[in-house]
Amino acid sequence: MQGDGSRRLMLALDVPTMEEALDLADATGDYVGYMKVGLRLFTSEGPELVRALKDAGHGIFLDLKFHDIPNTVADASRAAAALGVDFFTVHTPGGSKMLKAAYEASEDEAAKRGLTPPTVLAVTVLTSLPSTTEEVVARARSAWDAGVRGIVSSPKEARALRDALGPDAVIVTPGIRPSWAAANDQSRVATPKDAIEAGANHIVVGRPIRNADNPREAAKAIVEEMELAEVTE
Ligand code: C5P
Repeated sequence: MQGDGSRRLMLALDVPTMEEALDLADATGDYVGYMKVGLRLFTSEGPELVRALKDAGHGIFLDLKFHDIPNTVADASRAAAALGVDFFTVHTPGGSKMLKAAYEASEDEAAKRGLTPPTVLAVTVLTSLPSTTEEVVARARSAWDAGVRGIVSSPKEARALRDALGPDAVIVTPGIRPSWAAANDQSRVATPKDAIEAGANHIVVGRPIRNADNPREAAKAIVEEMELAEVTE
């Protein structure tokens, strides 16, 4: 099955090795739209892993949270676009020049190669730091004004972001816990259905799938939960 819910589900492949990542992606892929490759996995296994995931037919969310001078971030964004990822992340405190550089460079590189440009996702404030909804919305707006069309946020802020940015914003929310899963270290959690109803386009889920006795069944259950959501757009 590859319904709407599957396209919305992003799986955090927070495992140490290529073999484990490919096994998990293989087991769950029918229910997952995008495999999220983060700092540890990319640092150990690199672009080769991304290519292997793509060769196996998976969508890719490269979560390296670029934050540097605009020229350096532009070069990294070109590399992400050349790799053919579907989404990649940047940090909003890098400033609007940096955000614009990420967006423009990735669009330009994708166009040169005849590829679909990736969606740039701006991380507003790390949930490990104190913040207010006003601050999150202000940073999201500055990213939007720089051309970035995606925002990573907690599910609790998704509604305010949707109201502020409108229907074209791509809102991605981690911090998701189905009712049957443990919260782990996530403190501001929402269920898959609640996150979609609050305005999220995609949800990021890691441990509730990875640590399940049957990851494929867990991914399927999450997709089914999302498909119960009543979406008003
Ligand atoms: O295992 P869990 O479902 O908590 O994984 C969530 C994923 O989303 C992890 O890869 C984590 O790094 C990421 N993330 C998060 N909270 C944020 C930003 C990213 O949990 N605020």
